[in-house]
Amino acid sequence: KMKGKFLFGFAILFVIGFLSACGTGGDNNDDSQNADGNGQKETLIIGTDAAFAPFEYLDKGEIVGFDVDFIDAVMTEAGYDYEIKNVGWDPLFPSVENGDVDFGLSAISITDDRMETYDFSVPYFESRLLIMVPEGSNIQSAEDLEGKLVGVQNGTTGQTAVEKILGENNENIKKYETTAVAIMAMQNGDVEAVVTDNTVAEEYVSNNPNEKFEVIEDPENFAPEYYGLMFKKGSDLKAELDEAINAVLDSGKYAEIYEEYFGYEPDVEALKE
Ligand code: ARG
Repeated sequence: KMKGKFLFGFAILFVIGFLSACGTGGDNNDDSQNADGNGQKETLIIGTDAAFAPFEYLDKGEIVGFDVDFIDAVMTEAGYDYEIKNVGWDPLFPSVENGDVDFGLSAISITDDRMETYDFSVPYFESRLLIMVPEGSNIQSAEDLEGKLVGVQNGTTGQTAVEKILGENNENIKKYETTAVAIMAMQNGDVEAVVTDNTVAEEYVSNNPNEKFEVIEDPENFAPEYYGLMFKKGSDLKAELDEAINAVLDSGKYAEIYEEYFGYEPDVEALKE
C-alpha cells in the first residue's frame, strides 16, 4: 500500500512539473518561436528613459507609452518575453554597447553619428524637432534662438540641432538629464525655449494649457527624423526584429496603436521609403 501512495505522489509531481514547463513565463501569447526545449520563451532586456511622454513615461510606477505598446506587439510577433528597464538616457548608450540590455527603445532617432557605434532597426516612427516657448515669445524660428537661453535634453538630436545654430560650446545651451526636467526649467524661467521632438512638445502643450506654452515649427532648420530600436553593432536581433516590425506595420496592428495615441492614421508607407 505504501508503495502505491508513493508512486501516486510521483505521478502528481510529474504532472505539475510538466504543466509548469509548458507555461509561457509572463505574457499571454502562444507563439513558440524563440522558445527553448521546454516551450519557455527567451526574455529580452530592453533599456529606456521613461521621461518622454507619450513614448515612454511612468504612470503609477509603471512604464507605459506608445513605444511600450508598439514593442509589445513586436515581441509577440517575434515570440519573445521581455522586460523594460528604466536605465535613463545617457546610460542607455553604454548599456546597449556593453550588453547590459539587449536593445534600446526610447524614441531614439536614427542618426549617422549613432550609426557609427550602433545598429538600428527599420524606422518605426517619423518625428521632427520643434521649439517650445512661452506664449507670446519673440522666438519665431530657429534663428531667433541666437542670444537666448535654450534648454535641451543632453545627448539628444535637440542638442545637436541647437549646437548647429548657436555653436557647439555656446554657454546659452542648457543641457538637462531628461526632457521633462528641461521643460520644468522653462516653467521656472531658467530657459526661454526648449528644443525637442514635435510629438512630445505638442502633447505637453495641449495637456498643460495652464502653463501657456506654444510650439514653433521650423521645417527649414529641422529635418524629419526616424525612430529605431538601437542594437549593439552586429547584433543578431536586428534582422529578426526588423522582420517582426515589418509584420506589425503591415498587419494593421501598428495603425491601431498609433490611432489610439494620436487620433489619426499613420503614414506607414512613408516609413518604408
Ligand atoms: N529623438 C531624440 C533623440 O533621439 C530624443 C529622444 C529622447 N528619448 C527619451 N526617451 N528621452 O535624440
